[in-house]
Amino acid sequence: MASPAYTVVITHVEHYTESYFRLRFTRPEGLRFISGQFIMIGLQLEDRHIMRAYSIASAYWDEELEFYSIIIQDGELTSRLQHVKVGDEAILSARAVGTLTLRGLKPNAKRLFMLSTGTGIAPFASVIRDDDVYDKFDEVYLTHTCRYIKDLTYGFDRIRDAKQCPLVGEDASKKLFHYPSVTREPYKHEGRITTLIENGKFFTDLGIPPFNGETDRIMICGSLEMLRDTQKVLDVIGLERGSTRAPGEYVWEQAFSG
Ligand code: A2P
Repeated sequence: MASPAYTVVITHVEHYTESYFRLRFTRPEGLRFISGQFIMIGLQLEDRHIMRAYSIASAYWDEELEFYSIIIQDGELTSRLQHVKVGDEAILSARAVGTLTLRGLKPNAKRLFMLSTGTGIAPFASVIRDDDVYDKFDEVYLTHTCRYIKDLTYGFDRIRDAKQCPLVGEDASKKLFHYPSVTREPYKHEGRITTLIENGKFFTDLGIPPFNGETDRIMICGSLEMLRDTQKVLDVIGLERGSTRAPGEYVWEQAFSG
């Protein structure tokens, strides 16, 4: 288990539903990260500490760190983390790491697609506020699929923040497109993102051409099953997964998925 390197103070707690909440921490001086990376966060108990990997949801330039968490009632960390208040302390590992970054994608593309389910939107909340993304891509799409409409709120809030952001707001207003969908109640976009890509509805809804390896790059974040199922869909189209050593057309977080 990772050792805590920093003690930080919680500056903001926002519960969205009984299952999802957002936390903001003070940012240790000197902690650097690349948009899309993750870090270990946790709590110090009397006799031990508990830490888990969390994608950083705040921008690389933000003075604070943000995380978006699910609550698992019998989960060792989130059963406790859900009760923290502003002013409480949390712990952080020393370094942010990870493969879900632009470094694993081949250069000279036009469109970036970020496909997320549930809390998988967290790393993309960081990516959509990175100026580099708007320098590299003409169009940036963020999909977020959840069970229910109420689970989509965090994504709407972060898209709004990006469009109002002093650094990227002007670019995001022109280039950033949001595609929310739900799977367990009626909505304007219904279904798993894998299904919506396979049946073409995702592209017709947005009025855009289907994926093309020449022009498009894709970042994926969700459960292991979601990653695997999305990979199957992208394999059929002939897209290849990339890494920092061998960039490709799509990336995901290897640490979470193997
Ligand atoms: P579904 O409702 O059909 O399971 P969860 O809350 O379980 O983390 O799921 C978040 C969202 O991800 C849900 O809308 C869920 O759809 C969807 N999802 C779950 N598994 C997959 C998968 N293998 N591929 C694509 N989407 C998935």
